[in-house]
Amino acid sequence: MIPLRLDHLAHATGATLVDADGQPVGPDAAERRLLIDGPVVTDSRECRPGSLYVARVGEHADGHAFVGAAREAGAVAALTSRPVTGMAHLVVDDVQTAFGAVARAVVDAAVDLTLVGITGSSGKTSTKDLLAQVLGASADTVAPEGSYNGEIGVPLTVCRITPTTRFLVAEMGSRGIGHIAYLTRIAPPRIGIVLNVGQAHIGEFGGRDNIASAKAELVQALPADGVAILNADDAVVAAMASGTRARVVFVGESTTADVRAEDVTLDDSGRPSFRVLTPVGVARVTLRLHGQHHVGNALAVIAAALECGLTLEAITTALAAAGPLSRWRMEVTERADGVTVVNDAYNANPDSMGAALRALSAMKRPTAVARERRTWAVLGEMFELGPDSRTEHEQVGAVAVAHSVDRLVVVGAGAGPIGDGAQAAGMPPAHLARVADTDAAYALLTENLRRGDVVLFKSSRDAGLRWLGDRVAKTVYGSEVGS
Ligand SMILES: Nc1ncnc2c1ncn2[C@@H]1O[C@H](COP(=O)(O)OP(=O)(O)O)[C@@H](O)[C@H]1O
Ligand SMILES: [Mg+2]
Repeated sequence: MIPLRLDHLAHATGATLVDADGQPVGPDAAERRLLIDGPVVTDSRECRPGSLYVARVGEHADGHAFVGAAREAGAVAALTSRPVTGMAHLVVDDVQTAFGAVARAVVDAAVDLTLVGITGSSGKTSTKDLLAQVLGASADTVAPEGSYNGEIGVPLTVCRITPTTRFLVAEMGSRGIGHIAYLTRIAPPRIGIVLNVGQAHIGEFGGRDNIASAKAELVQALPADGVAILNADDAVVAAMASGTRARVVFVGESTTADVRAEDVTLDDSGRPSFRVLTPVGVARVTLRLHGQHHVGNALAVIAAALECGLTLEAITTALAAAGPLSRWRMEVTERADGVTVVNDAYNANPDSMGAALRALSAMKRPTAVARERRTWAVLGEMFELGPDSRTEHEQVGAVAVAHSVDRLVVVGAGAGPIGDGAQAAGMPPAHLARVADTDAAYALLTENLRRGDVVLFKSSRDAGLRWLGDRVAKTVYGSEVGS
């Protein structure tokens, strides 16, 4: 972290500074001058010398019980909601809010830092990973690990910046109105990207209009000298242009886009390549990531990186080298027996199901491995879709048929309507299997997969298909290999 004194953080958070014996410290106490220059973390095991340990009270454990462990690991102070003993600490009413204030103090102390915020219903993590690799190739860049995109994940990420950090990429997720506004107060972006407004968490939000308002909070928070990067191909996102003071850069395949893709093709493993037209020139872009949906993600990355001052050449070179950083997103494994496993089961909603099925159909083309490829879609339930859940599942079945999926395996009762939709759209019953759980799916696949088959796994996070996909990826001719 950027080194900050404990009294500075006490002021920023409105905390009472308490010593190692649990007593409030006086105006000249040495504790005030303690320097936090190590990692700021919520897990005592991740403390290092100079750390601030953030003690959260979670569902399963009370972080206050680990203050001693944090100190032994090198932490110099803790952030707590009650007095403890063992080391100097900041006592606040609400640790989560105070953690946000710590992060904000860190951002305010940074010089020459450009903050990019990313939101959208699908593709935040993928885009964040791409942008981090592109900016990271040119300058010191901090970006979240995995999908750290909420009220704890964003401050954890922000606190990783150091005096040499030039770019901070923040993924901003939202499960309701006000969430992104809150995150932008902790980490105020100068550049904001809105990828799309879809169906993700529609049940919790109570409708697509609410999702749109929630995502719009990102561009509303941008300053007048900021830049809003909006998807021109998504009408709801494009309309956010009127709700920001910032300059707007449109990206997409529409002719109205300022950073535009044309001549998009997918290779036979579903990796896109396209020509990008920008205000500073034209270039050919080839991605190592699978799925056409990454074209839109890459356009947002190109626009953001240009705004950060990178050259188009540096950007396309870094994009061509960028690989997947986070797991279970169109993760492609070629098995030794010629079966290709596509594990996209990190999560699912109707939009990302459509994107994955489109990529799957591109992978149907004959290759050196197999002259004839069959595509399999192994699909589980999409959670949190609210009252339209049944129709949305049926629609996914119809989309699978539209993309000529050869075999559909529907896993679990909740995913049943996917099978109904596929049947209604004309899938032959012999090509459709409904299985009770992932074990049954595993048995079916082990029995039936053959050379050249491409198998997609996709469902919402907790439906277990990630592990099924991993298991199948490790299986060759019915026997599990390696680990
Ligand atoms: N632009 C996009 N449009 C639709 N689906 C996408 C897009 N980008 C990624 N996806 C798919 O959405 C799922 C979630 O991707 P991820 O990058 O983790 O998004 P998020 O962080 O927004 O949840 C993955 O299955 C991925 O393949
Ligand atoms: Mg994410």
